[in-house]
Amino acid sequence: MAIKTGILSTIGNTPLVALNKLYPATSSKLFAKLEMLNPGGGTKDRTALLMLSKAVEDGKLDQNSTVIESSSGNMAIGLAQVCRYLDLNLIVVTDPKINRHTIDLLRAYGAEIEHVTEADSDGNYLEKRLKRVKELRDSIPNSYWPNQYSNDLNPEAHYQTMKEIIDVCTEPPDYLLAATSTCGTIMGCARYVREHNLKTKIVAVDAVESIVFGTSKGNRLIPGHGAGRKSDLLDESYIDHIFHMTDIDCVIGCRRLLQRESILAGGSTGAVVMAVEKLQSQVPENSSCVMIFSDSGERYLDTIFNDSWVKKTFDKTRKPTQKNSDKNRAHAPTSAILNSKSGLIDERWPNKNGGAENHS
Ligand SMILES: Cc1ncc(COP(=O)(O)O)c(C=O)c1O
Repeated sequence: MAIKTGILSTIGNTPLVALNKLYPATSSKLFAKLEMLNPGGGTKDRTALLMLSKAVEDGKLDQNSTVIESSSGNMAIGLAQVCRYLDLNLIVVTDPKINRHTIDLLRAYGAEIEHVTEADSDGNYLEKRLKRVKELRDSIPNSYWPNQYSNDLNPEAHYQTMKEIIDVCTEPPDYLLAATSTCGTIMGCARYVREHNLKTKIVAVDAVESIVFGTSKGNRLIPGHGAGRKSDLLDESYIDHIFHMTDIDCVIGCRRLLQRESILAGGSTGAVVMAVEKLQSQVPENSSCVMIFSDSGERYLDTIFNDSWVKKTFDKTRKPTQKNSDKNRAHAPTSAILNSKSGLIDERWPNKNGGAENHS
């Protein structure tokens, strides 16, 4: 293996691993693209690197520039990593939902953090964050907004992700599952599939209460996938199936993945793990399914992997936190999750949500 120069050269080329223990009863072959092994811990490392290096190349960014972006998670960390390496100033506009670990990471990289405290009417903060980004851009000379929601380099970065998958597979997978927010990941992968005329069906995994695919918007607890605004990058004609997963799905999926495969992954990966299970009832025997595992679970130790948080948040004695969630799921005892040694939560807590919405 050759010696690489600098941390940014280690972004991408993440491993694709076969998961034989996750759902042993299925005839499908399941694979995971481990994007959490990027040096910043998530898939947004790729996006940040491409957006900023192109901006430098095009002369939109120099040593005196300030990069400004709205993010409360992986995009912020990806940008912070690249900005530190290139000696660029970075202001991250974020909100109270950002977790402590992410704030500590951003501070360690030297990013400045601007907190928006006033919520939008739906309880989320995206509109207020974007308003603050605009104010900062208007007041700071030589500022640059990568704008991950409409920058074509966002999907462009993930065209490469799909290429890497195809390069190591003996034949293209039957299904590709990715969690969605800006839709950069899924659209980049989907464009590669269409341009190369591959058989791969594209499966989007969104959050209940997210409006990425036009459903009603509301309060979500697990950051990462889902969005309170539509992405300019999404072309729904590329998407074959859509699953909407709840916050508790994310918790169950993450814990199940850890139990069965010893992979500590973040919330959106939990959603993908639950979605691939649902998908099994709709796919032919011996299908191959590749899942994108977007980030590491370390940033979720205070929530998804914290028993008290799970109990406090989802216990049957409390009101359901999600308006649209299935009542059986919202009221099921959290002990079903917390006491399950094998992660076989589904046996005691059957999934009543049925299959995916077809979307061709
Ligand atoms: C953990 C995680 N999963 C999934 C996504 C969705 O990816 P995309 O914005 O490319 O749709 C994000 C986006 O930030 C994320 O942080």
